[in-house]
Amino acid sequence: MNQYTHLLVENNDGIAMITLNRPKALNALNYDLLQELNQLCEDIAHDETVKVVIITGSGDKAFVAGADIGEMRPLSAMEGRNWGRLGQSVFSKIENLPQPVIAAVNGFALGGGCELAMACDMRIASEKARFGQPEVTLGILPGFGGTQRLSRLVGTGRAKELIFTGDMIDAQEAYRIGLVNKVITHEELLSAAKSLAQRIMSRAETAVTLSKVAVNKGINMDLESGIAYEAEVFGLCFSTQDQKEGMTAFLEKRKANFIGK
Ligand code: CAA
Repeated sequence: MNQYTHLLVENNDGIAMITLNRPKALNALNYDLLQELNQLCEDIAHDETVKVVIITGSGDKAFVAGADIGEMRPLSAMEGRNWGRLGQSVFSKIENLPQPVIAAVNGFALGGGCELAMACDMRIASEKARFGQPEVTLGILPGFGGTQRLSRLVGTGRAKELIFTGDMIDAQEAYRIGLVNKVITHEELLSAAKSLAQRIMSRAETAVTLSKVAVNKGINMDLESGIAYEAEVFGLCFSTQDQKEGMTAFLEKRKANFIGK
């Protein structure tokens, strides 16, 4: 993988660990960091050695404290729109990576940080994590997909309350409303994320990949079209050796030896 200035990237045993690394600015998303994340997504999407991705923030305090306010302040309307489009497109790339992506939220996940976490497939939060969309306190609105993904995750009523007030919520409240999958002690956050990644990696890889595609595509379709699409990818699973192995292993009462094909 390429070398990056604002990202730390490790690939260990199939798990790509991406650490957003601008700790002095609480990992705020500036233009250069977004460009690097964009490039990294391109790399990872074509890297067959990566099976699961974990995204976290460096330091003890923040996952990502939002888009970089200093860089945004002077923008014109057109520049603001382009900036929003850049963030949206990078987050869509994350959402559509072939590999499952876990956000390990280790602290503040505000504005673009909450939006980044929501672009991931699953969110695990440290008990120190704080979530919010404080954009209205700055005279803007969530512009990296937040108005859309937050509503889809927690419903329009709760999304509007968070967006209209700009209030922060703690990890337990985020769990209660369905914004995060689970809350873990701060110390155990990364090991919990890795253990979730390993559990996913122990399953049939193509089945996991196609499940992701079915959920992501289906959520934007009417139910009938989504169900029809599901039948297509369900059928595709039967072309894999892992489907034969998984079912044979079940019938032979043994553990499946998946090969990812
Ligand atoms: N952009 C740029 N710099 C940021 C930043 C951001 N989003 N968030 C924090 N920083 C910087 C601070 O300016 C500060 O830098 P200096 O030390 O050079 O002064 C450093 O990070 C540490 O921050 P604080 O001193 O403020 O730390 P704190 O513990 O007192 O507060 C915080 C933490 C509550 C997260 C506070 O930093 C904060 O409110 N940050 C801004 C959060 C925010 O509004 N995010 C939304 C941005 S808009 C957005 O994301 C739009 C979108 O949808 C794309």
